[in-house]
Amino acid sequence: MRAIHIVTTRLSSSFRRPILYLDFIVSCLAPPRQFSIPRRLICAATKANGGGRSGSIVAPLVVNEEFQKIDVNPPKGTRDFPPEDMRLRNWLFNHFKEVSRLYGFEEVDFPVLETEALFIRKAGEEIRDQLYCFEDRGNRRVALRPELTPSLARLVIQKGKSVSLPLKWFAVGQCWRYERMTRGRRREHYQWNMDIIGVPQVTAEAELISSIVTFFKRIGITASDVGFKVSSRKVLQELLKKYGVPEDLFGRVCIIIDKIEKIPIDEIKKELGFTGISEDAIEQLLQVLSVKSLGDLEDILGGAGEAIADLKQLFSLAEKFGYSEWIQFDASVVRGLAYYTGIVFEGFDRKGKLRAICGGGRYDRLLSTYGGDDIPACGFGFGDAVIVELLKEKDLLPELGQEVENIVCALDKDLQGAAATVATALRDKGQTVDLVLESKPLKWVFKRAARVNARRLVLVGKTEWEDGSVSVKVLSSGEQFQVKLSDLE
Ligand code: HAM
Repeated sequence: MRAIHIVTTRLSSSFRRPILYLDFIVSCLAPPRQFSIPRRLICAATKANGGGRSGSIVAPLVVNEEFQKIDVNPPKGTRDFPPEDMRLRNWLFNHFKEVSRLYGFEEVDFPVLETEALFIRKAGEEIRDQLYCFEDRGNRRVALRPELTPSLARLVIQKGKSVSLPLKWFAVGQCWRYERMTRGRRREHYQWNMDIIGVPQVTAEAELISSIVTFFKRIGITASDVGFKVSSRKVLQELLKKYGVPEDLFGRVCIIIDKIEKIPIDEIKKELGFTGISEDAIEQLLQVLSVKSLGDLEDILGGAGEAIADLKQLFSLAEKFGYSEWIQFDASVVRGLAYYTGIVFEGFDRKGKLRAICGGGRYDRLLSTYGGDDIPACGFGFGDAVIVELLKEKDLLPELGQEVENIVCALDKDLQGAAATVATALRDKGQTVDLVLESKPLKWVFKRAARVNARRLVLVGKTEWEDGSVSVKVLSSGEQFQVKLSDLE
């Protein structure tokens, strides 16, 4: 009997994107050899087909006798993590996590899939256009998270008064953005985030930058390799206020200004003009953005405003923390996310070859955009891609081999059970064991031991085992001895 493939197609209510449910009911009485995987499944889904929320149609049956050859590469912009890459990822994430704990932060996580609405902001951010979003089987609009901050805000609102402030939370999670692929920018990346919720003072920003500096130092990156450009969105806020620009335009103006290095200046002026800002204000805004010293900024804004006060305090704290040489004022740093309200910062490589290494800032009003009460907050995101590029550039990538303490091998196939007993005894004592599961010649075992960087070879031979002992060979020294299983440490 032939394989039967039944394809049912259900349409989303909006008809924007048909959702295809491929339900294979395969019944076959013939031997497995005769199975085939259809290479083409045609699921024509049109409005005329009478779709809709509950509409269900049965598409034409397509049977193709050829086997499908899959593309073994992961989707563009995404990565597999074979063991050698996983070792590097774990090394990096361990540093992220250890630094976070060093600063007294607690780990949190959120779902990779969130409601789409969580990421929709009106300001025209690039991140909105890069969203991986779709309708799920229950006709809900959902999205793969492009960043962690909105989820964190959601959780803070949900926890409400049950948590005591300040919260110091960190997370390492995968984010998805349909980005144009460049060096260090991918369609999925992992981000290390540290956020402080409930501290209005600049001490919070200073602490966060300190933690990133600590991380850099731990992995061998110095202040001559990277730095932080720091500014405050209050600079723009104060200027816009001076020119009578309504507050609700603030986010949109910041997003336009953030594109300054990506699109021609005339375009920027045009876009700013569309928001209704006067030409005078635009000229002054653009002039301020080129300022690279706090003194010059003070000349323009006067010394009384919050922007100058915050920045001065941050630079003073940087001195106390001991990372002054890592940070510099640069008014052109605005950041591309609408929710920042105060200090903003970005980590950059001093050779200027790479995209931003990390970025963050204060977002005191994000919670109210989700209907919660505002709580002062700041944090940063640090991706896993640019830093690896930088480590490669500096020849600082660690050499990470597999690490196993013992290889346990039975010298006779009848002793496989005895070898399992030895492996269990060692594992019970907390030792890592790679147990040789097949009958293999000793030459093969030695080669494997070298490949997995084993410290010892534990051989289970007939004579020794009859005496309750095993042979141990220390691979670095070649030293070999016999030991009772009960004494094996
Ligand atoms: P962001 O600047 O969009 O900020 O991203 C932070 C960092 O994530 C970037 O500096 C970069 O290291 C990494 N990153 C972003 N997009 C990609 C990509 N497509 N490929 C590789 N790496 C990428 C945020 O996401 C904010 N939510 C950070 C934050 C946390 N602000 C406050 N708390």
